[in-house]
Order: sequence, then structure tokens, then C-alpha cells
Amino acid sequence: MTKTTVMPSVLPPTLSFADLNIQPHDTFATYRPSLPFVRREDGAYLILRASDVQALAKDPRTKQVETQLLAARGISGGPIMDLFSNSMLFSNDETHRRRRQPLAKCFSFRMMEGIRRDVRLLAEDLASRRLDGDKLRLRDDFASAIPSITLAGILGIDSSDVPLFTSIAYRVSKILTTSWTDEDIPGIEVAARELEAYCSDLIADRRRSPKGDFISEYVASVDQDANLSAMEAIMQLVSIVIGGTDTTRAAIVIQTGLLLERADLWEALRKDENLIVPAVAEALRVEPAVASIPRLVVRDIELDQHFIPSGSVLLLSTMSALRDPEAFPDPERFDLYRERPRWHPVYGDGPHRCLGQALAQLELEEALRALVGSRHRLLPAGQQLNVHGHAGIRQVDELEARWT
Ligand code: HEM
Repeated sequence: MTKTTVMPSVLPPTLSFADLNIQPHDTFATYRPSLPFVRREDGAYLILRASDVQALAKDPRTKQVETQLLAARGISGGPIMDLFSNSMLFSNDETHRRRRQPLAKCFSFRMMEGIRRDVRLLAEDLASRRLDGDKLRLRDDFASAIPSITLAGILGIDSSDVPLFTSIAYRVSKILTTSWTDEDIPGIEVAARELEAYCSDLIADRRRSPKGDFISEYVASVDQDANLSAMEAIMQLVSIVIGGTDTTRAAIVIQTGLLLERADLWEALRKDENLIVPAVAEALRVEPAVASIPRLVVRDIELDQHFIPSGSVLLLSTMSALRDPEAFPDPERFDLYRERPRWHPVYGDGPHRCLGQALAQLELEEALRALVGSRHRLLPAGQQLNVHGHAGIRQVDELEARWT
């Protein structure tokens, strides 16, 4: 019997980075009902529907991308390539397991609960400071400090180094956003080398004189198992610093901005702290700080009569999926009481599910708790929440609020 190919009635458009960055939610909502994906100018397929995003994250016809996203943008060597080709995020199978395993226990939910009290005290302290009268610059005076000081504490980094290592991390993490152009590459390369050198020095220092902290234990386990190359050992630390700073900073600003726009919800949170956890989850759904999960197609895929050949790069758009009405009815509504999956899709799925999920969640919860729990009332200061980017890590503008 001959197989007949049914041609789809609508063909997916190819959109530029700039087109996609303008109003990504509207663009996704326009195409999602009729098309399972849109193409991007670099050849990537942005998968739009929640059911496809969920299934393809773990589908055996896909695997994690390695260096294909860089190759599509013309990067074939140098410090950015070193970072990608040695990281746990952009690796597969045994290589991925070797790189992730020495860190997995330290970032487990159980271990992270042990630092909740410290994070709470830090967030309360930051919320109680009056740096500029009644004004609170949410991003630079509050949100950025929580992940960076917490990570420095976990890694055993001296607090005086926090401004240095966070500023380098923000410069490097730009490569995981959709806002860089070819002109940004030299600057990102310089920053990537600086972060590599910084983490390399930390490892060398703890090898010489162990301090009983996280990095000393990490170095001891890496040396004992002899499973990682020197570069791999460094790049897993680099991955944590990149993964753990910009993402949570953005998510804290976003959740605060969204909730400040809704006085009724802010008031509800002030009265009932059980609403903190669903508020954090709902903010990550409505306006996620990370917008997609990358995957590579290793066997041809057909979605709703549209063909995706082996070798294609997929960006599973969690940003689109989290507003897909098939999965989240009335998706634009910020609903503290909606049913949601046990594991938040924003953190990815399968073996690459975010290593820092437990840490991120507790930072987001404690940040919100400190702001709503303050004896002063935080109010919007007339600025709008601005979030940029349609894939990868998203970026936020500064957002001011004011204390009464
Ligand atoms: C709101 C905050 C965060 C979000 C939304 C987020 C989201 C993600 C996503 C989508 C992935 C890829 C998953 C996949 O490919 O299936 C990922 C991986 C990763 N994240 Fe996060 N992340 C956040 C915070 C953090 C923090 C605080 C850390 C610090 C430890 C971190 C470290 C990592 C690492 C190391 C990976 C690579 C894991 C692997 O490939 O095995 N992330 N994250």
C-alpha cells in the first residue's frame, strides 16, 4: 500500500529574532491554535503547544542539544564554545551523568531546606533597608542580592567577591538570552574567560587548603572519582553561577511586579502566607524567567501533519505552553487556586530538569514572604514591568516600588 502524504493547510512562518522579541505572548497565541510550531531565522523550531512541549522534552526521538545552537549562529570555537561543550546543560547520556552527579546531592530539596532560614533572614534584611528614602529598586537593590549572596554562601565564596562574580555572571548569561547580536560576542567571550578563571582559582585554592565548604567537598569528590577533566570540573561551577543568578533575579522582579499590579492579591498574601507557594508558581507560569527548553531531533518527527527532520533544533516553548488554554484554562488570569502539575514545567523535564529548582523555589518564596510580610506596605511606583525575550533566559528592566 502506498503511503499518502497529507499536506497541512497552513505552513509555519519563519520569524526573525526581532519579530519574536516584540510581543512573544501575542505571537504564540496567534499561531498556537493552527500550528504546532513556528520557525526562527536561525532554523530553530519553536514548539508552541503544551502537550507537545511536555512530550518532546523526554521523547526518545530527541536528545539535549550540544553545540548546535552556537553553530547555527556561526560560533565554532573560543571560550563560549568551551563553556557549552564542557557543561552539564549541553551534554547527553553518560557525559551528562558524570558532570551532574557530583553536584546533585548538594542541590537536592532536602539540602536546600537547610538554608531556608538564612535566605529568609537575608530577604527580610534587604526588605527592611531604606537605601533611597521610600523607594525600593526591586531588581538592583533586592532581587539581585538574594540569589548571588545565597549562592556565594553555598559555594563558600567570600562576600566581598559577590559584586564581582555576579557582574561577570550577568555578562556571560547574555549568551543564553535572545538579545545578543554578533557585536556582543567579543564582550561575552571576555566575560566567559573571566568566569572560568575565577572558578578555576576557587578550585585551586580549595585543593591547596580545604575549608570544609561546598567547593572543598566538590574538589575532593572530583579528585577521588577522577571522572571529570580539569575543564569539566571548572565548567560545572560556571554553569551553577550562570544558572543561579540571572534567572532567579528576573523571577523575583517578575513575581513582585505582577502581584503589585493586583492590590487584591497582595492583600490576600499579606493575610494568608499559605498563598505564597501558589503565587510563586503562578507568576512563573504567567511570565516565566526562562522561556524554553532546547532539544535536538535525532529521528524525524511529525506534529499535526507538519514534518520536522532529524538534525533540527527544537526550542520547546514553555512560555507558550504555560499559556496554552488546553492545559491552563483562562490562561491570562493570575489564579492562585488553579490546578497545576506537581512539577512546574518552567524548570524543564527529564534528566536535565533544573538542578537549582529547589534553591530557586525557596529563594522566590522567601523573597515574596519578606516583601508581603513587612510591616510597611509596598506599592507600585507607576512603572510598568518589562520582561524581554522569547526563549532561553529572559531579562527584566529595573522596576521601582515604594514603601508606605
Ligand atoms: C526561576 C529560576 C530558574 C528557572 C526557571 C530555571 C530553569 C531551568 C531550565 C528550563 C533548565 C533546562 C532544563 C532542560 O533542559 O530540561 C535548567 C537547567 C539548569 N539549571 Fe536552572 N532554572 C532556574 C534557577 C536555577 C538556579 C538557582 C540554579 C543554581 C544551581 C540553576 C542551575 C541549573 C543548572 C546547573 C542546569 C543544568 C541541568 C542539567 O543540564 O542537568 N537553575 N534550569
